[in-house]
Amino acid sequence: MKAIEIKKDIYWVGVKDWNLVEFHGYATPHGSTYNSYLILDDKITLVDGVKHYLSHEQIQRIQSLVDFSKIHYIVVNHVEMDHSGSIPELMKLAPQAKIITNAAGKTALEAHFDTTGWNFEIIKMGDSVSIGKRSLTFMTTPMLHWPDSMMTYIKEEKLLLPNDGFGQHYCSDALFVKDAQKDVVLREAQSYFANILYPYVAQAEKALKTAGDLGLDIEMIAPSHGLIWSGKEEVNTILNLYAKWSSGKNEGKAVIVYDTMWGATAALADVAVGEFQAAGIPVVKHSLAVKNVSEIMIDFLDAEYILIGNPTLNNQLFPRVAGFVTYMHGLAPKNKKGLAFGSYGWKPGVVNKIQDVFNDLGWKTVAPFDEKYTPKSDVLEKFRLRVQELINLK
Ligand code: FEO
Repeated sequence: MKAIEIKKDIYWVGVKDWNLVEFHGYATPHGSTYNSYLILDDKITLVDGVKHYLSHEQIQRIQSLVDFSKIHYIVVNHVEMDHSGSIPELMKLAPQAKIITNAAGKTALEAHFDTTGWNFEIIKMGDSVSIGKRSLTFMTTPMLHWPDSMMTYIKEEKLLLPNDGFGQHYCSDALFVKDAQKDVVLREAQSYFANILYPYVAQAEKALKTAGDLGLDIEMIAPSHGLIWSGKEEVNTILNLYAKWSSGKNEGKAVIVYDTMWGATAALADVAVGEFQAAGIPVVKHSLAVKNVSEIMIDFLDAEYILIGNPTLNNQLFPRVAGFVTYMHGLAPKNKKGLAFGSYGWKPGVVNKIQDVFNDLGWKTVAPFDEKYTPKSDVLEKFRLRVQELINLK
């Protein structure tokens, strides 16, 4: 297992999870990586652990560079187990190491592991720790992605180690974005934001502002998932995208999500597609029978209109629709215009459960629309007018 130098005396000692297909319900068609970095300075410092089942690979990469007894600090930027899983094993090998984290990080580590005998150095927002020629500055970023999350900045290297921030679930033989298929990496970065960080857009906006206020000069962003953004151009690309996604500004797109049993809800979905096309509005249609919820959420970031179609089953939401609505509700997209629609056999009004979620999210909406059995031409026309009403909603 080879360590790879990303800057003079700073090495990637992470691991690649080629076979990962899902991450707590989020589809990961390109696998993922858990990145960790070893800084060889007067006080040798390891930044972040990895998922427990790949800890042996991280350990081998570290051992290819230094003996564990020489490690002075282990920075824990985030305690979710994809980054902390290997920490207990690392602490057994390097019991002399001091863990640098924030107060919430210490509490979370204690809640996950037996931390007896571990030494901690607790930092606060903006604190710096010298490790020799370099200093580490810490920016606490609560809820990006857990209350304990923080980022580590090395000013002498213009290097940001932001853990979950700016990451992508993307695994390849490359280590840098410049060596990979950029459009795929950007799509995975968008997916990461939509499926992991979306509920915390306000915190993301604040973190970007704080980074600006602190005057961080960044030439490389090395996240703990996926590939490294290197050079001003790439760094600005991802920073600008985060600014855009955090702002909640949309690009006027329509997203139609539906499922169907006998084609009735699908027929309504097709009417909606036609109406948006006629209005010159970009539209995308996702069938829950074939798409994973996380793939659909990517399109929410720049969407203005969200339509969710449900075929009533046993007087309830169809299970795949219910699952999607629950998942989407948790990610809490803001500033959307919604229309719930669907079909039923004998009990109308089940689509109101979707409307309730729209209301809870504070979206603007038009009245839900549902129709008994197969919609005939007069019903399709009524629905077309309802979609038009949504398009005209101010
Ligand atoms: Fe990659 Fe929130 O863990």
